[in-house]
Amino acid sequence: MSAQFDTLPKLRPMRVADLDRVMQIEPAIYSHPWTHGNFEDSIKAGYSCWVIDCAGVIAGYGVLMAGVREAHLLNLSVAAEWQGRGLGRYLLDQFIAIARDSDAVQMFLEVRPSNLAARHLYLQSGFREITVRRGYYPAGRGREDAILMGLVL
Ligand SMILES: CC(C)(COP(=O)(O)OP(=O)(O)OC[C@H]1O[C@@H](n2cnc3c(N)ncnc32)[C@H](O)[C@@H]1OP(=O)(O)O)[C@@H](O)C(=O)NCCC(=O)NCCS
Repeated sequence: MSAQFDTLPKLRPMRVADLDRVMQIEPAIYSHPWTHGNFEDSIKAGYSCWVIDCAGVIAGYGVLMAGVREAHLLNLSVAAEWQGRGLGRYLLDQFIAIARDSDAVQMFLEVRPSNLAARHLYLQSGFREITVRRGYYPAGRGREDAILMGLVL
């Protein structure tokens, strides 16, 4: 990954002051984006919220709810113009490490069946598809299923 960046990307905690930039990225990459309030609530709730900082520019971010036994990845995002350079994998690896440090023994996430890029990333990182949650996501017309994926930590 380092060969593709002048300055190495670094992970730092997400702050409320970052949310203007996060809210530029979010609606551009999701059909049903999180709101400013969703991120603010996550920060205030003490979830593990991080951004990837590339030379002062936020290129990606994510939110993990880490419990004692289980961790749940709620959001994993890379800005459209930064995708395809290894940042999604870097971010996911960091969240897996954070989940392990929190003493979770399993990590879960939901993904849309149509999101082939994310599903591929998760499978490559060792996640397995556990079940389908019917009508979990809002969609253009009606609802879309979610695939629940899990990783033994
Ligand atoms: C999914 C996402 C986080 C991946 O981030 P990224 O920085 O583009 O991914 P990386 O460059 O780290 O690639 C990692 C792996 O993802 C998968 N991947 C990424 N883009 C892909 C594509 N267009 N098609 C298929 N697989 C793809 C591949 O498995 C890739 O590994 P490989 O290059 O060794 O084949 C990013 O595309 C994104 O933010 N998408 C919009 C938001 C989203 O869908 N988030 C996930 C919600 S569950």
